[in-house]
Amino acid sequence: MRLKAVIACAGLLAGVLVALSPSAAQAAPTRYEAETSPATCTGTIDSNWAGYSGSGFCNGNNASGAYAQFTVNASAAGTATLGIRFANGTTTARPAGLIVNGSTVQTPSFEGTGAWSTWVTKTVTVSVNAGGNTIRLNPTTAAGLPNLDYLDVEAGSQPPPTPSWPTPTGQVGVNGTVEVPTSGLDGGMRRYCCIGDGSQEESQDPMFRLAPGATLSNVIIGAPAGDGVHCTGPCTLRNVWWEDVGEDAATFRGSGSPAFLVDGGGARSAGDKVFQHNGPGTLTVQNFQASNFGTFYRSCGNCSTQYRRNVVIQNVTLTRPGNTVAGVNVNYGDTARFTGITIVNDPSRSMVICRKYNGNNTGDEPTQVGTGADGTNCIYSSSDLTYR
Ligand code: GCU
Ligand code: CA
Repeated sequence: MRLKAVIACAGLLAGVLVALSPSAAQAAPTRYEAETSPATCTGTIDSNWAGYSGSGFCNGNNASGAYAQFTVNASAAGTATLGIRFANGTTTARPAGLIVNGSTVQTPSFEGTGAWSTWVTKTVTVSVNAGGNTIRLNPTTAAGLPNLDYLDVEAGSQPPPTPSWPTPTGQVGVNGTVEVPTSGLDGGMRRYCCIGDGSQEESQDPMFRLAPGATLSNVIIGAPAGDGVHCTGPCTLRNVWWEDVGEDAATFRGSGSPAFLVDGGGARSAGDKVFQHNGPGTLTVQNFQASNFGTFYRSCGNCSTQYRRNVVIQNVTLTRPGNTVAGVNVNYGDTARFTGITIVNDPSRSMVICRKYNGNNTGDEPTQVGTGADGTNCIYSSSDLTYR
């Protein structure tokens, strides 16, 4: 009796352990064999070199562009680790473009493995979309691809951040611009609404005008928001949320070399700009999120008085649609520094991080003179950007 109970108990325990272990372990990668549809091989499916998995491998034609392609599924957008198993019995590496959903994201080189029957796995990390993704290896030399056995895909643990927008604790009716004194205004997470007609008219009144040195905090700005927030000198916008930007979320003016800080908060639906920098000084935007905008930050391209302006954008999450992160005037010596920028919903990496212009003070449209990091006006490297 007693022995039976012990055995039964041990059996139960074993069952529990077996049931627990798969969920406790890391999710196993999904294997996509090169010889199995919907994978395609520009060449033949062979089985004459031992050591492959499945029923064969892709022997690509010895030609540039003779690609192999896999269709892989990801349960969520984020990073995925790819394990590419290959053999290259020659002593010459065979490089290939790694094309994810139409964009070349890396160019791995498949070095000689010593023999056609010696298979090795090369690991790379890429961004994938939720759902189906095409992953193509496109050889760039006349030798073509190495022999390809399979692609292992392990979806990473970085789902796109779910923007958590605050729920208003109450409503405040706005009938005209709210003047915020130097002592500041704490909105207690109430929604302030509304002003203006929601258009892009540059002449609308702001909902808040901050005296130099003021802090505006814990405010949800409803729509229409007029011309948003105007800072007339140094200011801090802490935990301010624009539900629908309308014209610009905030405009920064002043004299001397003011420091402006936007810390926390978010903005949605800016038909044009989110942050418009018209005065001199330095704007820091941090711990912020924005979605659906034209330009996240712009140093005024054609204000009647022009300055050298600086912007620091750090720890922000920007969700497309969105055209440009920052626009600066190189002829006035502007600088834009970017770090910790997460870009969501941009598999083809079309959002321009930094657009360079020659600005003017005549009111003419400024002319674009370039884009991208240069270490002088547009300061960042690829490690400052994360695509999700
Ligand atoms: C040999 C080998 C093939 C390989 C080819 C190549 O023919 O048997 O498996 O694909 O070389 O150089 O690509
Ligand atoms: Ca071949």
